[in-house]
Amino acid sequence: MTDMTDTTETIALTNAAQILTLGGDRAARAGAAMSELGLLEHATLVIEAGRVAWVGPHAEFTAKLAAGELAPGVTHDCTGAVIMPALVDAHTHLVWAGHRRDELELRLRGADYEQIFAAGGGILSSVRQTRAASEQQLYEQSLRRITRMRSCGATTFEIKSGYGLDLESELRQLRVARRLRDEAGFRIKSTCLAAHAIPEEARGSDDARAAFINRICTEILPAVVGEGLADYADVFCDRGAFTKAEASKVCEAALRLGLELRLHANEFGHTGGAELAAQLRARSADHLLHLSDEERAALREAGVVATLLPGTSLVLGKPYADGRALVEAGVPIAVATDCNPGSCALENLAMVLGLACYGCKLTPAEAIVATTHNAAASLGLADEVGRLAPGLSADLLVIASDDYRDLVYHAGSPLIREVWSRGQRVDRAPA
Ligand code: NIG
Ligand code: FE
Repeated sequence: MTDMTDTTETIALTNAAQILTLGGDRAARAGAAMSELGLLEHATLVIEAGRVAWVGPHAEFTAKLAAGELAPGVTHDCTGAVIMPALVDAHTHLVWAGHRRDELELRLRGADYEQIFAAGGGILSSVRQTRAASEQQLYEQSLRRITRMRSCGATTFEIKSGYGLDLESELRQLRVARRLRDEAGFRIKSTCLAAHAIPEEARGSDDARAAFINRICTEILPAVVGEGLADYADVFCDRGAFTKAEASKVCEAALRLGLELRLHANEFGHTGGAELAAQLRARSADHLLHLSDEERAALREAGVVATLLPGTSLVLGKPYADGRALVEAGVPIAVATDCNPGSCALENLAMVLGLACYGCKLTPAEAIVATTHNAAASLGLADEVGRLAPGLSADLLVIASDDYRDLVYHAGSPLIREVWSRGQRVDRAPA
């Protein structure tokens, strides 16, 4: 693993064809502002102590050099390249054990995701495999995964639990997320998604179901908060998962414990999730394949970020969320991988950025804002990552092209030449 500690060295990344600073302030962007990339041509960026110290035209940089106002220890030529903020993956379930490759084949032969889930496969299959894994096994599998995800351009991640569904296993998943932050140096926010599915042992009766929901509110969430293991709570509020009334109970308990909310909403139908996200002023409502004008207006009024997950639409063969309608309605949009063992095991947020254009009809500029600044804003990290402005962490990408639109035009090609986090290269093989 590359050493992730802050460096005191001053590094200049010089003469890039384009630097996307994203300019602007910390608020999530909506409408026309979603196209604001703060683009500088022929520009240079200076890193000091792991943070952006200066960014501006290359000619100004050379003048400052000549005047002795800047004296970088290292100069790194970026002629002909694009420099942009590193990506922020604001919706993942990346801590799990095992795999569901068998279900992939079943689905490709015509089986339906919701039917597999109702029959005890799907999420419940990952719950069985995750419960059976030790913390160390879970850590090692997840570390390999998140390291691959970072080499695809993301340096900041939201990670949900939800493959434990009992106290000990939920805590174990969240402890692994914390170790990925504290031992491996990834920037991570974590979310308790104990309300991801009704576990096998609570499926016998309505009473057992109600008791499980009660246990989330009175045992699991308080224990998670007691250990400081989560920043957010989430509920899978959808057909075949939790009703709006059940989700509302879990959300109210989470809010009382001081957690903020992010909700899985409106993936399979108009099931009340988006409404609930607006009513409770969730930080984010995610999926949103089915959304009415009223629901869009409610999200905008409540300041909820709409987090779109087009990789899941691709993998499940579902419709794509309507990104254009959200831009036109003035709802700020984030885009994330949803990386999970079932509905979307895609790890490459840079490719999903392309899918957000082809599937959800965002423009390349909007999709970049959605995978950087807006995602950071939805996680309360807008003063740390997602833009390239003095004082923010030097988390950035060097793209092997002179035009940022190539990320979409050639989506899936290996255009990300370098990934930097906290002012250090993190894309190279471990020493
Ligand atoms: O976001 N929708 C609910 N949860 C995940 C899928 C989890 C799974 O299939 O394991 C999602 O798509
Ligand atoms: Fe999800």
